[in-house]
Amino acid sequence: HVLIIDFGSQVTQLIARRLRESGVYCEIHPFNKVDAGFLDRFDPKAIILSGGPSSVTWDDSPRADEAVFTRGVPVLGICYGQQVMMEQLGGKVESGTSREFGRAFIEKVTDSELLDGLFEGEDHREQVWMSHGDHVAELAPGFGVIARSPGAPLAIIADLERRFYGTQFHPEVVHTVHGRDMLRNFTHRIAGLSGDWTMAAYRAEAIEKIRAQVGDAKVICGLSGGVDSSVAAVLIHEAIGDQLTCVYVDHGLMRMNESEQVVGLFRDHYNIPLVHVDASDLFLGELAGVSDPEKKRKTIGKLFIDVFEEEAKKIGGADFLAQGTLYPDVIESVSATGGPSVTIKSHHNVGGLPERMNMKLVEPLRDLFKDEVRALGRELGLPEAFVGRHPFPGPGLAIRIPGEITREKADTLRKADAIYIEEIRNAGLYDEIWQAFSVLLPVNTVGVMGDERTYEAVLALRAVTSTDGMTADYYPFDHAFLGRVATRIINEVKGVNRVVYDVTSKPPGTIEWE
Ligand code: XMP
Repeated sequence: HVLIIDFGSQVTQLIARRLRESGVYCEIHPFNKVDAGFLDRFDPKAIILSGGPSSVTWDDSPRADEAVFTRGVPVLGICYGQQVMMEQLGGKVESGTSREFGRAFIEKVTDSELLDGLFEGEDHREQVWMSHGDHVAELAPGFGVIARSPGAPLAIIADLERRFYGTQFHPEVVHTVHGRDMLRNFTHRIAGLSGDWTMAAYRAEAIEKIRAQVGDAKVICGLSGGVDSSVAAVLIHEAIGDQLTCVYVDHGLMRMNESEQVVGLFRDHYNIPLVHVDASDLFLGELAGVSDPEKKRKTIGKLFIDVFEEEAKKIGGADFLAQGTLYPDVIESVSATGGPSVTIKSHHNVGGLPERMNMKLVEPLRDLFKDEVRALGRELGLPEAFVGRHPFPGPGLAIRIPGEITREKADTLRKADAIYIEEIRNAGLYDEIWQAFSVLLPVNTVGVMGDERTYEAVLALRAVTSTDGMTADYYPFDHAFLGRVATRIINEVKGVNRVVYDVTSKPPGTIEWE
C-alpha cells in the first residue's frame, strides 16, 4: 500500500491513477487526517506528498505529520510536497520572484534508481511539467541534487540514505513525458513493491468499504442507463444484495430502446430490485416551450429530484443514496459549488438531492476515471454492450434538440441517431470514438425528393475522440461513410432532408451542442 497525502493539488488524483496503472494499490488522504495513529493503522510501504495551492512560507499553511519522516519508509514529495519536506527537515523555501509554469527540460546530475532508464541514449534531457511559485533555497541536511533544469537548480533532490525524494515538477501529468516511469521507479525499485495489484483487488476492496459504510441500512441508486451508474449499482448489489433498490426515471428523452435494455439487464439479468418510472409526460409537459439550454437543464434536474424523491419515499427508510460520481465530475462540479472557475454548463447529476432528502452518499467510483470504471465493469461481468457504451448526458436528448422540444422531434432524433450509431458499429468504429450522436436542428431547409419539393429539418452528426471528455477532437470519418449515413437517414427518417457533419473540436466548442 502506498499512502498519498493530499495537500489540495488539482492533479493529486492523477498520482493515484499512475500508481494503479503500474499495479500498485494506493489511497489518497487529506494531510490533516494523517497523524501517527493513522500511519500505524495504514502501515504504508511508501508515502507520496502531493502538490498544493498554498505556500509553505505562509503562516498556517499545511504540513505533514512528523511521523511521516520517522517511519523509515520511502517518501516522495511533489512540488508543494517537496517544499514541505524541505521546510520540515531543516531546509529553506523562498517565494520566487519569477513563477515557473509549463514545459522544462531537466538533466541528470547524479545517478539514482529514480532515474533508471530515463536518460538512456543520445538524449540527456527529460521533458517535465513545472507549475510552482516557490522554490527550495537551501537543502535539508542529508539531501543532494539528482537533476536540475535551467529554471530549477533543485528539480530533483534526494536523501538516498533515508530514501527521501523531492521533485519540483509534476511527474503525474502527461506533459512530464516519462513521469509514469519515475513514479514506477519510486514504487517498484525504491520501495520494492511488486506491482501485482489488479482491478479484481479493487473490486474486493470497494465491496468491503461499501459494507463497512452502509452496515445493514437500505440504499437507493438512481440508474441512468449510463456506464457509471450501472457499474456503481452492480458493485453495490454485490456488496449488500437486496438492501439496494434501483430507481430508473425515464424522462422520455432516452436513446432508442434504452429503457428496455436497462430494465432488462437489471431486473431480469441481475435480479436487482428496480423501480421503473415512466415520467415522460411530466418531463415533456414541463419542457414545452422551453428553449434556453440552462433552463432545460434546470427544469430536468428539478423534476428528476421531485420524481426520485417521491419514489424514494414509497420505498421508504433508505439512509443512503448511491451515485456513480466519477473523479472528473468531482473536479468539474467544484465550480458549481462556489469555486473560482466559471460554470460552463450545469450538470444535473451532482448536488441537491442528498441534502433535501437528508441522505448520506455512497459513491464507490469517486476516485476512478472513465476507462477505469469500464475496466471495473468488465471485472464485474457487465455485458460489453453496456460497459463500452458512449457517455450519455443526464438531460438526454433534451440538449440535442436546440430550441423547443416536442415528442415528435424526440422521436425523429431517436430514429436518425439509431441509424447513425448502427452504421458506426457496422463500420467497426464504435470503440474508437469517445462519443457519437445526432443533433436535430431547429432549422428547415428546402430539398427535392422525387419530383416533390420538401421543407424539412437539418440533422447534425457529431463524433469525437477524447480521453476524459475535458478536451476532444472531431472524428475524421471518410466521406463515403458520411455519405452512406446521410443517404440512409434522409431515406428512412421522415422529417429530415439534410445531414451535416460537425467538425469542431473542444475547446473552443463543447461536445454537446447545449
Ligand atoms: P460538454 O458538452 O460539456 O460535455 O463538452 C462533456 C461530457 O459531459 C457530458 N455531459 C453531461 N453529462 N449531465 C451529464 O451526466 C449533464 O448535464 C451533461 N452535460 C454534458 C457530455 O455528454 C460529454 O460526455
